[in-house]
Amino acid sequence: MHNTSDTVPLISVEAIHKSFPGVKALVNARFDLRPGEVHALMGENGAGKSTLMKIMTGIYQPDAGEIHISGQKVNLSDPRAAQALGISIIHQELFLMNHLTAAQNIYIGREPRKGFGVFVDEAKMRADTAALFARMKVDLDPDVEVGTLTVARQQLVEIAKALSFNSRILIMDEPTSAINDKEVEHLFAIINDLKAHGVGIIYITHKMDEVKRIADRVTVMRDGQYIDTLPAATTDMSRIISLMVGRELADATRATGQGGDVVLDVKNLNRGRAIRNVSFSLRKGEILGFAGLMGAGRTEVARAIFGADPIDSGEISIHGVTQAIRSPQDAVRLGLAYLSEDRKHYGLVTSMTVGDNVTMSSWPRFTRSRVFMNDARMSAAANDYIQKLRIKTPSVDQETRLLSGGNQQKIVISKWLLRDCDILIFDEPTRGIDIGAKAEIYKLLQSLADQGKAIIVISSELPEVLRLSHRILVMCEGRITGELTGRDATQESIMTLATQR
Ligand SMILES: Nc1ncnc2c1ncn2[C@@H]1O[C@H](COP(=O)(O)OP(=O)(O)OP(=O)(O)O)[C@@H](O)[C@H]1O
Ligand SMILES: [Mg+2]
Repeated sequence: MHNTSDTVPLISVEAIHKSFPGVKALVNARFDLRPGEVHALMGENGAGKSTLMKIMTGIYQPDAGEIHISGQKVNLSDPRAAQALGISIIHQELFLMNHLTAAQNIYIGREPRKGFGVFVDEAKMRADTAALFARMKVDLDPDVEVGTLTVARQQLVEIAKALSFNSRILIMDEPTSAINDKEVEHLFAIINDLKAHGVGIIYITHKMDEVKRIADRVTVMRDGQYIDTLPAATTDMSRIISLMVGRELADATRATGQGGDVVLDVKNLNRGRAIRNVSFSLRKGEILGFAGLMGAGRTEVARAIFGADPIDSGEISIHGVTQAIRSPQDAVRLGLAYLSEDRKHYGLVTSMTVGDNVTMSSWPRFTRSRVFMNDARMSAAANDYIQKLRIKTPSVDQETRLLSGGNQQKIVISKWLLRDCDILIFDEPTRGIDIGAKAEIYKLLQSLADQGKAIIVISSELPEVLRLSHRILVMCEGRITGELTGRDATQESIMTLATQR
C-alpha cells in the first residue's frame, strides 16, 4: 500500500458540529482520507454519515469545525466550491435529470462551447463522454436518455461525471444498495482503478463483506460522534459492529415453526418469461423465504399476487377461495400487504410527517367517527413503532424527507406492520437498514408469525433468508427450482438451486 500515516490527507475534517431543529446530527465528528485509499464510513441509520458527507461537499455548512484539503484550511461555501477543489459525491438517492442524455447530465451547466461561445459543442461533449466511459470500461451510449437506464447504469453515469471533474476525492453513499452482484463487481473494478490513480474514496455501506473486500480503513460513527478508525483487513467485523451499536445485539437464532392452515395457495402462475408455472402454498404462522439471484422472478411473483401486474394464467386462492386479484386495492381488501423493494415509489409520502406515514394506510382503524381521526391513538401507535424499530426522529411530527435514508425505510415497514393483514409479503425488507435495526425487524417478523400471520420474505441476503424462514423456495429464471427446510437449507444448497437452469 502506498498509504503511509505521514501522507498529507486529501481531506480532513475536525470538530464538526451540525444541528437541525430538534436534532444534533453531528457532535464533534471527524474524518480524514488519504490518497489512493478506500476509507469506509459505518454507523447505524441516522448516525450522521450522509450529513458529514454533505458538509464535505458544500451542501451543508457546519455550525462549527474545520475542513482541510491537502493540508490547507478551506471554506466549502457551496457545492461548486467543493467540486472545484476536486470533491465529488454519488448520493444515496441519485440526482440525475431523467430526460437528459448521459452526456448532457455529465456536462450540465458547463457544456463545451463553439462558435464564439454561442452554441453547445455537442460533438465534443459526446466524444468526451465516450472517452470517460471507455476509461471505465463501460458500454454506454453518451446519447442515451438517463431515465431509461437501470440504477446501476445511472450510477456509472454519476461516476463518469465525477471523473470528468478530475476529482481526487470521491464519496459513494451506499452505492451497492440497488445493484446486482455482477454490477457490484464492475463497480469494485472501477474503484480499484481509481485507487491505483491516487484517488481517495469514502465508501458508506451497511454491508460488512464489502468493507472486508475493498476498504483499507474503517471509521465508525455513532449518534453523530466519531468513535474510532481501524484497519479493515485486520479488524474483526464483530468489533466494528459493537462499536457501531454500542450495545449487545440479540443473538441470531434460527427460526422454527411449521404453521397451520393454508392461507394462500398459488397454482401454475404464469406471466411472460418472468413467471413460469409457479405453484406454492403459504400457511398461517409460517415465514416462507424466497431466495434467488436478482432477476430470478421473486419480485414478479409478489407483484402478480398483489395485483400490481396482470398474469397470463394461474390460480390464486386465499383462505381456500379462488380470487381474481386485479389491482392492489383488491389485494388489500383480501388482507394482503406488500412491502415493495422500491420504497421511494410505493411506500412513502416524504412531504408528510412520520406519524401520518406510519398510520396512513390504517386510517379507518383510528377513525372515531367518519370525519375525525383519533389523533392521540394514532400517535401512540406511531410512537410504539418508533421505539421498537429505533426510528431516529425528533417526534412523530417531523417531515419524513428529513429523516436519514435507513430511517425512512423503517417507516415504510412500520406502516405495513400496523395494518391488520393476514398475509404479508416483504420484498428485501432490510435493504439499507443497519445491523441493529435488522435484528429488531427479524424479531418483529417472528412475533407476527407467532401471532398467526402468514409471511413471505424475499431476500437476496442468504444469511437473512436462512435465519428468518421456516421454509425456503429458491427461484431461477422465473421457475421455482427447489424447496429447502431445516438442515438442508444452507448457503451452498441455495446457491446451487439459484443457478440451476
Ligand atoms: N435537513 C435535515 N433536517 C432535519 N434533520 C436532518 C436533516 N438531515 C439529516 N437530519 C437528521 O440528522 C441525523 C443524521 O442523518 P444522516 O442522514 O446523516 O444519517 P445516516 O448516518 O446517513 O443514516 P442512514 O444509514 O440511514 O442513511 C438523522 O437523525 C436525520 O434525521
Ligand atoms: Mg445516509
